[in-house]
Amino acid sequence: MATINFGGVEEQVVTREEFPLDKARETLKEETIAVIGYGVQGPGQSLNLKDNGFNVIIGQRKNSKSWDKAVDDGWVPGESLFSIEEAAEKATIIQYLLSDAGQMQQWETIKKYLTPGKALYFSHGFGITYNEKTGIVPPTDVDVILVAPKGSGTSLRRMFVAGKGLNSSYAIHQDATGKAYDRVVALGIGVGSGYLFKTNFENEVFSDLTGERGILMGALAGLFEAQYNCLRKNGHSPSEAFNETVEELTQSLMPLVAENGMDWMYANTSTTAQRGALDWRHKFRKATEPVFEELYNSVKTGKEAEIVIEANQKEDYRVKLEEELKEIRDSELWKAGAAVRKLRPENN
Ligand SMILES: NC(=O)c1ccc[n+]([C@@H]2O[C@H](COP(=O)([O-])OP(=O)(O)OC[C@H]3O[C@@H](n4cnc5c(N)ncnc54)[C@H](OP(=O)(O)O)[C@@H]3O)[C@@H](O)[C@H]2O)c1
Repeated sequence: MATINFGGVEEQVVTREEFPLDKARETLKEETIAVIGYGVQGPGQSLNLKDNGFNVIIGQRKNSKSWDKAVDDGWVPGESLFSIEEAAEKATIIQYLLSDAGQMQQWETIKKYLTPGKALYFSHGFGITYNEKTGIVPPTDVDVILVAPKGSGTSLRRMFVAGKGLNSSYAIHQDATGKAYDRVVALGIGVGSGYLFKTNFENEVFSDLTGERGILMGALAGLFEAQYNCLRKNGHSPSEAFNETVEELTQSLMPLVAENGMDWMYANTSTTAQRGALDWRHKFRKATEPVFEELYNSVKTGKEAEIVIEANQKEDYRVKLEEELKEIRDSELWKAGAAVRKLRPENN
């Protein structure tokens, strides 16, 4: 394991140099890896494993679009594509990549096939961390491990095909065989991770739920709306308000932050922008800190998990979701966004 200094704090990171693909293949050469679920992570992880030379099969319920997608991607029914039960039975490592709600519903089926010495693999700490609510409690004589790619399954595959690697976190919840570390790292490398950093199931889910509700998706959308509405209320046109709120951020500034960091971006804007941004940053931090505390607490106490589980069990979840998304899509802000996107030279 390499020790890397992250802003003054040393962390253990596993890189491909130290745990090369050959070693990963050697570690898992006797294993049958069943990827259960062919949604978003399923295709990315299983195709990368297959192309990397691992023994991998798919478990997916039949009569479903995901089954057809698996066939289209080259998985052969009866050879490398099976029902969930059949795949779980054949597997020595079960990669449980159903949706988090699906994992709860299929748990009794999967549990039957968790015989001693097998490994149960997750890409999210949700099912195990909130097991009082999910009912997912594995037997004590199997390894329980996690590799969570830090991005969509689609990006995992695209980056692999382009010769790059998304980074992932890894965790061990149960080491029944004494092989859990080698298994989890080998799988992490096998699914196409660029490098792996250590976490535990609880931290993985707490940070993930906070991040997506916060900066990555929830807070971001809320801040967009607040600033856009403020500009509109003060007489600015939709195109002006959208450009100053969203377009400049996504098109110009964030790629610079991704490349060189925040200070570099600040250093490379006008002195007028610099002075104002440096001052107002503190005010925004102070204003949102209590909201982030409230959010983290809601994640930690399991309230967010409860909300998700209850919502996902509703029959009309998809219908209601579409209504909510439509409301966003049809708002002036995002309609202005659609018009602005169309105007980009590359879209003409
Ligand atoms: N999305 C991501 O990129 C991402 C990133 C990091 C980690 N993760 C984690 O990876 C895991 C998989 O996530 P995902 O986004 O790939 O899931 P997803 O796309 O929502 O998964 C859908 C899969 O679950 C199956 N499924 C759902 N409900 C089912 C049920 N009741 N019975 C049987 N099968 C059911 C679907 O089959 P049908 O098509 O037949 O319904 C499909 O194969 C989750 O733990 C997630 O938190 C996801």
